[in-house]
Amino acid sequence: ALEPKIAPSILSADLARLGDEVSDVLASGADMIHFDVMDNHYVPNLTFGAPVCKALRDYGITAPIDVHLMVKPVDELIHAFIEAGASDITFHPEASEHIDRSLSLVRDAGLRCGLVFNPATPLTWLDHVMDKVDMILLMSVNPGFGGQSFIPHTMEKLRQARERIEASGRDIRLEVDGGVNADNIGEIAAAGADTFVAGSSIFKARRDDDPHRYDSIIGAM
Ligand code: DX5
Ligand code: ZN
Repeated sequence: ALEPKIAPSILSADLARLGDEVSDVLASGADMIHFDVMDNHYVPNLTFGAPVCKALRDYGITAPIDVHLMVKPVDELIHAFIEAGASDITFHPEASEHIDRSLSLVRDAGLRCGLVFNPATPLTWLDHVMDKVDMILLMSVNPGFGGQSFIPHTMEKLRQARERIEASGRDIRLEVDGGVNADNIGEIAAAGADTFVAGSSIFKARRDDDPHRYDSIIGAM
């Protein structure tokens, strides 16, 4: 299995001071930044786009930025996020007209790419593209909002995704997103995940100016 990684979702950060929030979670031990892009069309909420990703790069953030596209269509924004300095781009297969092409757009630019599965989206979307994905992202909540509860059935789906990865013989990351916290992360890891998105459980932990305010929560994960 791959080394575990923690990816705080900036959806729950204090967006009025995003640069400092990102620097501080990284200084507290986070491995990458999870960047949730919502378009009020594929999901019923609106967040931030490629200019905000570019702004974090200009601010000096060098850690991987893991862009989770909850948008339809996807290809135009894939181009925009490549330009903006993304490191990883995942999208929902049912939101792309041509999944193989969308994956190739990301791969050909030298970024890591992956597919995202909603709680009720079957893993069979992977059947013909397993050799083209670097990561599989399982949603453990319905996408659109932070602060929801982990859907228990995800545990079984994680085991199934892990079996597919082992059968592929490739180093594909298995990421989980939604309702992850210090209490359930151990069980989620045991089910096969190696990359953990956490939004509210990290950013709601402490809200003051101490640059080490996230040390203990990330340390507990
Ligand atoms: C939901 C987003 C998640 C969200 C997770 O659509 O994809 O990344 O920020 O938030 P928590 O960790 O609060 O469930
Ligand atoms: Zn996400």
